[in-house]
Amino acid sequence: QSVLPEGYKLRALRRSDFDTGFLDCLRVLTTVGEIGKEQFEERYEWLAKQGDSYFILVIEDTNASPPRVVGTGALLVERKFIHNLGSVGHIEDIAVAKDQQGKKLGLRIIEALDYIASQTGCYKTILDCSEHNEGFYVKCGFRRVGLEMAHYH
Ligand code: ACO
Repeated sequence: QSVLPEGYKLRALRRSDFDTGFLDCLRVLTTVGEIGKEQFEERYEWLAKQGDSYFILVIEDTNASPPRVVGTGALLVERKFIHNLGSVGHIEDIAVAKDQQGKKLGLRIIEALDYIASQTGCYKTILDCSEHNEGFYVKCGFRRVGLEMAHYH
């Protein structure tokens, strides 16, 4: 079990995170686009209504002034019919700010999301990643299974 550096806090995403660098943190992962505050809040409200099906965590560095989001990750809980009404956790959108990588923040986020998955009754947690990140997820306790397919729209 890893511990966060002094002054770093792991918490759920908040409506106010439009102003704490959350979207900039996601930019290390992929294109985010130009999202306004109203659009951010609208999406936040929609996600908040999903209850215990959608979790977004952030790590905030409270040593910074103002405090800044330096890491994030999401978990979707998919409820199935198979496996006796089983649930599967899907980990998505893991990102740690460039200048904060290598401090075990990513590992801490994965551990927390996987814990939520187990607590919400998921029998497994799965994710897609590039070859480049395989080693990171292996360190987080995951192993390569299957093959990803995609159809872009
Ligand atoms: N390959 C192999 N090992 C790695 C890699 C890698 N790419 N990245 C980290 N590790 C190792 C670390 O060295 C560390 O090993 P140690 O315990 O022996 O010291 C261990 O994995 C844990 O590393 P962290 O410090 O927790 O990793 P970090 O906080 O830097 O986060 C992450 C890793 C999330 C991949 C970060 O580099 C990042 O944000 N990259 C850009 C965005 C990205 O690719 N996100 C993942 C997309 S896949 C998805 O979202 C499902």
